[in-house]
Amino acid sequence: MGRKIIIANWKMYLGTHKAVILAKKIRDAQKKHEVIIAPSFTAIEEVAMVLAQSGIDVCAQNMFYDDYGAYTGEICGQDLLDIGCKYVILGHSERRKYFKETYEMVNKKLLRALKLGLKPIICVGEELNERRAGKTWDILKHQLKTALKGIKKSDEIIIAYEPIWAIGTGHPETPKDAEKIHKAIKKFFLDRNDKVVYGGSIDENNAKNFLKISDIDGLLVGGASANSDKFSKIIK
Ligand code: PGA
Repeated sequence: MGRKIIIANWKMYLGTHKAVILAKKIRDAQKKHEVIIAPSFTAIEEVAMVLAQSGIDVCAQNMFYDDYGAYTGEICGQDLLDIGCKYVILGHSERRKYFKETYEMVNKKLLRALKLGLKPIICVGEELNERRAGKTWDILKHQLKTALKGIKKSDEIIIAYEPIWAIGTGHPETPKDAEKIHKAIKKFFLDRNDKVVYGGSIDENNAKNFLKISDIDGLLVGGASANSDKFSKIIK
């Protein structure tokens, strides 16, 4: 198994204090893979200071698509760069579900992030009913086409395949089925060379089964990434 990308999505699980403690533990842990950590906005700056020169990059969980203006409660990409972010997660299913984000919005955010020099991690994934109806690939294709509209060949992005029914449920996709989807995504973007990572109920016990598959370039880990023992086992 080669070196892969492991992204920790800390969602709204940790305040700044706990985030800093966990960041130090991960910084000092044994790592085989490239690690990217996405703390909540308020913890980004302190976590970035802890991780400076550690080789671990910091990521935001969202950003707004404009640079400046009367957008109460939003955060622009430049501000994220200024406090040490290198990556930004866009279109996470929780954003789509609770905040009604559309892939048109995700596309605007993506183009802005690329313009600013923030590396986007784009989430796609189908609902359980869509899966059962055999529509997974149609859904993913539509999401990818909409989200990635207008990007250039040289633009560097990471695609995260996260079936919605697998997120936070303890029921991940099987590595074999994930492999099929990853292969399909790579085939669809044959002229590109994007990394495709899997997310959804990854833990310290199942991570290796995904990581050993060559078309799975890494993992996006939620719940298990907020626990130092579990996450240390995943990145080892
Ligand atoms: P989970 O979340 O690992 O808790 O299922 C993954 C994600 O939402 O990115």
